[in-house]
Amino acid sequence: MGEYEMSVINIQNRISSRVAPVLLSLVMLVGVPVQAFAQDDEDEDMSFTFEEKLQSCAACHGENGDKPLAPEYPILAGQYADYITQALRQYRDGQRTNPIMAQQVEILELSDADMERLGKHFEAKKGVYNLTK
Ligand code: HEC
Repeated sequence: MGEYEMSVINIQNRISSRVAPVLLSLVMLVGVPVQAFAQDDEDEDMSFTFEEKLQSCAACHGENGDKPLAPEYPILAGQYADYITQALRQYRDGQRTNPIMAQQVEILELSDADMERLGKHFEAKKGVYNLTK
C-alpha cells in the first residue's frame, strides 16, 4: 500500500468518525418531529374510555345515577336498560331535544354499544323507587 492510499484511508476514517455524530444528530432531529407527529396523531384521538364517560354522567346524575345534581335531573338508577338506551339514541337523533343531553352524547361520542352498556349499567343500580312493590 502506497503512502497515497494510506492517507486516503486515514481521511476516510477521520471523515466517518466526524460524520457519525452528525448523522446521529440528524437522526435525532428527524426522529423528534416524527415522534411528535405520532404523538399528535394520538392526541387527535380524543375518545374517552367507558369509565370516563360514566364519570361525566355522574357529574349530573350522581355516582350511581341515583343522586341527581338538581331536582329536575332524572334518576337513572333502576330504570329499564332499554329505556335509557332508547333515550340516549333519541338525544342523538334529535327526537328528544335537550341541549344538555344532546351535548353529552355528542362530546362523549357515545356509540350504540356505549348506549346499551350505559343502559345496563344504570339498570343494575339500586333505584330510589321500588316499582315492583
Ligand atoms: C350536565 C348535566 C348532565 C350530564 C353530564 C348528563 N346528563 Fe343525562 N340528563 C341531564 C338532564 C338535565 C336531563 C333531562 C333532560 C330532558 O328533560 O330531556 C337528562 C336526562 C337523561 C336521560 C333521560 C332519562 C329519562 O328518565 O328520560 C338519560 C337516559 C340520561 N340523561 C343519561 C345520561 C348519561 C348516560 C350520561 C353520561 C353519558 C348523562 N346523562 C350525562 C343532565 C345531564
